[in-house]
Amino acid sequence: MGLTRVPGLLFGGDYNPEQWSEQVWDQDVRLMAEAGVNVVTVAVFSWSRLETAPGVFDFGWLDRILDLLHAHGIAVDLATATATPPPWLVRQHPDVQPVDAAGTRLEFGSRQGYCPSSPAFRQGTVRLARAMAERYRDHPALVMWHIGNEYGDHTVECFCEESARDFRRWLEARYGTLDGLNSAWGTSCWGQHYTDWTQLAPPRKAPGPVNPAQVLDWRRFSSDALLACFEAEREVLKEVTPDIPVTTNFMSVLHHLDYWKWAAAEDFVSDDAYPDPADPQAPVKAALSYDLMRSLKRRPWLLLESAPSAVSWRAVNVPKEPGVMRLHSLQALAHGSDGVMFFQWRQARYGPEKFHSAMLPHGGTDTRQWRETLALGADVRRLAEVAGSTTRAEVALLLDWESWWGLEAPESLPSDRLRLHSLLLSWYAPLHGRGIAVDLAPPDRDLSGYQVVIAPNLYLCTAEQAANLAAFPGRLVVGPFSGVVDAADQVHDGGAPGPLRELLGLRVEEFWPIPDGRTQEVSAEADPARGAPALNTVRLTARTWSEWLELDDAHALARYRGGPLDGRPAVTRRGTVTYLGCLLDDLTPVLDEVLDTAGVTGVTGAELPPGVEACRRGDHLFLLNHGAAAATVPLPASGTDLLTGRPLHGSVVIAPRDAVVLKY
Ligand code: GAL
Repeated sequence: MGLTRVPGLLFGGDYNPEQWSEQVWDQDVRLMAEAGVNVVTVAVFSWSRLETAPGVFDFGWLDRILDLLHAHGIAVDLATATATPPPWLVRQHPDVQPVDAAGTRLEFGSRQGYCPSSPAFRQGTVRLARAMAERYRDHPALVMWHIGNEYGDHTVECFCEESARDFRRWLEARYGTLDGLNSAWGTSCWGQHYTDWTQLAPPRKAPGPVNPAQVLDWRRFSSDALLACFEAEREVLKEVTPDIPVTTNFMSVLHHLDYWKWAAAEDFVSDDAYPDPADPQAPVKAALSYDLMRSLKRRPWLLLESAPSAVSWRAVNVPKEPGVMRLHSLQALAHGSDGVMFFQWRQARYGPEKFHSAMLPHGGTDTRQWRETLALGADVRRLAEVAGSTTRAEVALLLDWESWWGLEAPESLPSDRLRLHSLLLSWYAPLHGRGIAVDLAPPDRDLSGYQVVIAPNLYLCTAEQAANLAAFPGRLVVGPFSGVVDAADQVHDGGAPGPLRELLGLRVEEFWPIPDGRTQEVSAEADPARGAPALNTVRLTARTWSEWLELDDAHALARYRGGPLDGRPAVTRRGTVTYLGCLLDDLTPVLDEVLDTAGVTGVTGAELPPGVEACRRGDHLFLLNHGAAAATVPLPASGTDLLTGRPLHGSVVIAPRDAVVLKY
């Protein structure tokens, strides 16, 4: 069963017909059909054009375009149109507009200008969602609902009085009593003891650092407040159109929203991905976020937006060179997307996104962009059978949003240099380079299907999560500064690694961050179990972070050489569990050893040439050459390249920016 009732892979993009005359619509649908577009996202920012005054709807233009699209065989991902509240709502209820941490109410004139806790906003969105659902419930073009748009993009949080009230309600539900809250927040520190709920406020701009427990709860609340907006609309859609799947477009590895919770509220996950063509690490970063999307519901997802070429919101917007749009699109398919969609179909002539690329550029059809759009549409059709197939990963990287929020709290940590996305990437990149399939997982998920589980960091770790890790029978790797605090951001009794102490067989006596620009030498040591170093490199380098470890029943795999921690353990092992008390420049030696002992290999079974990415999806092996040189890749089996139809066996030479999809 696909994501929607459209067969095969989805191909299309955001379409904003309200920016064009109806003559242009005729050309649009004709060209869409020519390019093989089978779905478009419509009405994302259309609230002010659909509801022109409170309760006064003008659906005429939307009726006509939906009919026209359907007549040309194009399905519709229909937005509920609630991403930008209309001017009349904002003027009637100025408190719909969000307020920043310094107390400034933000003006109308951009998009997403709403306070997530505003009753007027929520009532307005629900009314519009109901009107949309009732109007289009039986429209044959409707195949999915797109609620809001990129929650957390411009508006992540709002600090207004209404949000403060909502926050208090949320806190009351979490803690029940003020005593509970005072104790969880540790308000005995810095004289913050609360005696009445009305005294509580969002972490607005204050003279100094705000209580980190308050900030952590604020992050939880803000993610939940936006989710409540999504859920209010979803409820209406499910009531009126129970069979139409509902999604909202995620923003890759986004700090602010707990996507495990969000994904549970959707029928399928969709993502907007904008890897920077100027960033050499872009393919690896994209792969990480695609693997997250696949892992959120452990099933295929949808690339709902990507840029055909340049975006318009970076300081310097570099286009995609010929072939890169195709390569990046195939990459999303390789990692489990059931389609390739773009922002946007036709390039805008006005507004902030007039220089953003589109499938159909300003220059029209006699352009490189359009030719690449046509060619990609044909490739997507050739790969139709990939839809619905899944990936089996033997390695999981743990990601927990609450821990991430705690790790990156402002002004209260031993070092603010530990950033979760970089930590995830430092493990993910070498796995990706080996062609090893990786899932992301929350620390409380059943992990028994994996051979190797890596927690790059679990600053916040509860006893339950620790018990889940202890129950994991495979190879576990835990990164530094883990098991430090509980769910209330209070340091575990006895200090780090708190509930992980028995599992790791050690205590962290002191955190020893390394000043910027300095390094610490680390050298591997003989593993008593083998009589030889377990790590295949003798000299390693630590940077940014180290720890004074005291071992209980773990042994050292590597120790610091020189410096303040000279001779102390840096990397340790207890049974099948490895702990790193520092950030190593190169994780390869640790990873090699763990993967070898676990018997985990890349999907091709052979080493990959640099720049080549390999992913298996069902019976399909995607080989993508992101490098600048042709690469010869040994094949694990004979089969057919679905992109060219040619039979392949032995090995294949892949040109730069080209790809092979081997069916075997
Ligand atoms: C996304 C957004 C789209 C469009 C796009 C441009 O963040 O959802 O509406 O603005 O970026 O890259």
